[in-house]
Amino acid sequence: MFITFEGPDGSGKSTQITLLSDYLQAQGRRVYRTREPGGTPIGDQIRDVLHDVSNTEMRAVTEILLYSASRAQLVAQVIKPMLAEGRIVLCDRYADSAYAYQGYGRQLDMAMLQSITQFATQTLKPDLTIYLDLPVEDGLMRKRKANDAGEGELNRMDRQTRDFYERVRQGYLQMAQAEAERWTVIDARQSVEQIQREICAAVSKLKPPTADRRPPTADC
Ligand code: TYD
Repeated sequence: MFITFEGPDGSGKSTQITLLSDYLQAQGRRVYRTREPGGTPIGDQIRDVLHDVSNTEMRAVTEILLYSASRAQLVAQVIKPMLAEGRIVLCDRYADSAYAYQGYGRQLDMAMLQSITQFATQTLKPDLTIYLDLPVEDGLMRKRKANDAGEGELNRMDRQTRDFYERVRQGYLQMAQAEAERWTVIDARQSVEQIQREICAAVSKLKPPTADRRPPTADC
C-alpha cells in the first residue's frame, strides 16, 4: 500500500505521518516512511542542490529534472522493493508535488511533465494521496512563526512569490477534484486529532495489500 502526503510547509504533514505510522505499526503493520526530495543517499545529495538558496540561477527545467532524478532513485531503490515486501510506504511528497510546484507553480508544460514523471516513477502511482490544505496566508504565517522560533529551514523553494503559492494550492485542489478516488483533501486548520481521524478514515477504506489481508480499522 502506497500512501503519499501533500500540502504546504507548515500544514502538519510530518506530525500526521508520524501519527499514522505509529498507529499502523501498533496494528502490527510493517511501515516504511520516506520523503521527497531525498530518501536515498543519492536523493539527499540532490536535495541539497535543490534547496541551496545560493542556487539562484537554477532554471525551471533543471529543477524538474533534479526533483525527478531524486524520485527515480527513490522509486527504484526504496519504494518498489518495500511495496514488494508487503510494507505500507508513507511518503512525504511525491510526483503530485512536481505537478503542483513545477506544473502549476512554474507553469512548465504539463504534458512534458507527465512524460518525465512517468519515466522517473516507472508509472508507479499512490493508492491514496492525503492533501493537507491550508490557505496560502496561513501557511506563510506558520512558516514565519517557525522561523522566528528557530525551527525549520528556509530553503530555495520557500522564496517564491505569493502568486506562486496560490497557483500551487489551486493546482492541488484541481488535481484532487479530477482524481477524487485517489485524493483525500483535509482542512489543515483543524486540530491535530481531527486531522488524524480523517486520515485514518481514508486509510481504512483502502484495500489491504496482498501480503496482508487485514484491513486497517478506523478506530484511531
Ligand atoms: P521540504 O523542506 O521537504 O519541506 P515541506 O515538504 O515541509 O514543504 O521542502 C520541499 C520543497 O520542495 C517544497 O517547497 C516543495 C518542493 N518540491 C517541488 O517543488 N517539486 C517536487 O517535485 C517536490 C517533491 C518538492
